[in-house]
Amino acid sequence: MLGTTNSVVLIILTVSSSLLFPISEQYSNCSPINPMNITNCKKLVTLGAEFGWNIHSNTEIDILFTIRPPAKWIAWGVNPGPQGAEMVGTRAVIGISQPNGTLAVRKYNITSDTKLGCRLKPSQDFDDVIVKNMKGEVKPRRYMSIFATLILPPDQAAYNILKLNHVWQVGFEADDALMEPKMHSTSLQNVDSTETINMTTGRGLSIGHRQHHLRTVHGILNIVGWGTMLPLGVIIARYYRRYPFQCPRWYVVHVSCQIVGYTLGTAGWAIGLWLGHASRHYSFSTHRILAICIFAFTTLQMLALRLTPTKTDDYRKYWNMYHHFLGYSLLAVISVNIFQGIAILKPNKTWLWVYVGVLGMLGLVAIGLEIFTWTKFIYDLYRGKKSRLEFHDGANRSN
Ligand code: HEM
Ligand code: HEM
Ligand SMILES: *[C@@H]1O[C@H](CO)[C@@H](O)[C@H](O)[C@H]1NC(C)=O
Ligand SMILES: *[C@@H]1O[C@H](CO)[C@@H](O)[C@H](O)[C@H]1NC(C)=O
Ligand SMILES: *[C@@H]1O[C@H](CO)[C@@H](O)[C@H](O)[C@H]1NC(C)=O
Ligand SMILES: *[C@@H]1O[C@H](CO)[C@@H](O)[C@H](O)[C@H]1NC(C)=O
Repeated sequence: MLGTTNSVVLIILTVSSSLLFPISEQYSNCSPINPMNITNCKKLVTLGAEFGWNIHSNTEIDILFTIRPPAKWIAWGVNPGPQGAEMVGTRAVIGISQPNGTLAVRKYNITSDTKLGCRLKPSQDFDDVIVKNMKGEVKPRRYMSIFATLILPPDQAAYNILKLNHVWQVGFEADDALMEPKMHSTSLQNVDSTETINMTTGRGLSIGHRQHHLRTVHGILNIVGWGTMLPLGVIIARYYRRYPFQCPRWYVVHVSCQIVGYTLGTAGWAIGLWLGHASRHYSFSTHRILAICIFAFTTLQMLALRLTPTKTDDYRKYWNMYHHFLGYSLLAVISVNIFQGIAILKPNKTWLWVYVGVLGMLGLVAIGLEIFTWTKFIYDLYRGKKSRLEFHDGANRSN
């Protein structure tokens, strides 16, 4: 009895602590995929990668880097800084899978030229780090691993196993004969694949937990604000103003929707700017440029609250055309940018399903109302004609 209570308490504690600390301490337990007898292992935060290491001395370590296929090349490296853990400046060990089913491993010096798209060729020995015993292993559909022994230079500022900058990556294209890996994808998983690690504990010193939560908040605020409330406001303005429904309160509801949408959206936008600023090594330029346009032009639309010409002004007609045109264009750009944001978070599918659901609902309502409008219009037209016809008929029949 006591035993069950205890285990229930234990389960609850474990579950709640793993919810509170989602990146739990998973080092020291290596998965069965461990061809090199490495004793410390941890799951890395991105790309489903696993990292293992043995410490021989302050300057000599073994490393094992494993991912689940498919992939064409897998890479792991150390970066002495000064910018911290980033791609440029990494001394990397890269394994490229060969047509005969082996994984060929070489050393690579990754420079800013690589990032600009120059060919990445294997290099001779590095100036500082010595790499020995490089090996690669592939088990189709099970794992791809690279293994190496590193002798770090004694420069403690650049290479300190208590705070070592390490970087990893996976790519799907390479010239296997020339041993040249080609560009990797740049979704968030691929640009978040860096960490500063304390190898004695396995703890990452620079994982952005706060960033992780703020990204979720950013996505939700933007999908609700720009992606749901604004289109809802447009639907109300289109179908409830005069035709097919004449609802005298349409204006209040429309303006409220737009104000709420604009406020939530702007908050999400500001968080996005902060996130973009915080992750200084990379940026999502399309997403960013569209975001700035969206904010600028919705602000312009909101000015309509104050600047609408009075009903009697001559140019009211043109002003209306402009307000409507900008409104519909903005809806299109917003939806494109939401898909852009979701693509950054790929391969997380939840966002996609949620937003496709929202779009589907809005689309169904709009299509339904549009069909209703046209049916009603044609019906009214027919009725109008018919009553006129009936009038003529009546006049004829009196003969
Ligand atoms: C129309 C709606 C949206 C606007 C106006 C917007 C705005 C922004 C802005 C200004 C940035 C900073 C870009 C940079 O400087 O690199 C950003 C980044 C980002 N956005 Fe959005 N966004 C929108 C929708 C979304 C959605 C729906 C998602 C996800 C579901 C999303 C996910 C992200 C992510 C993951 C980042 C990168 C954060 C980082 O750098 O750590 N965005 N967004
Ligand atoms: C093969 C040629 C490569 C090309 C052309 C390339 C290109 C790029 C580009 C253009 C970005 C910036 C993405 C953005 O800001 O949107 C980037 C980021 C990144 N790359 Fe590469 N890359 C290559 C190889 C590698 C390798 C081998 C590694 C790992 C050892 C790696 C790790 C990273 C990481 C961690 C980032 C994000 C952080 C940062 O920007 O420094 N890349 N890469
Ligand atoms: C790993 O350990 C096993 C058993 O201890 C041994 O047979 C094997 O040769 C070791 N492998 C390596 C790569 O050291
Ligand atoms: C596989 O191919 C690579 C070069 O493509 C070669 O170096 C290696 O020896 C080959 N290995 C086997 C087992 O055939
Ligand atoms: C590698 O690149 C760095 C610059 O990032 C450079 O200083 C160094 O000389 C290059 N060559 C070797 C072999 O490490
Ligand atoms: C790394 O971990 C060790 C052992 O827990 C600790 O003494 C040291 O202060 C840590 N270093 C950093 C930079 O966190």
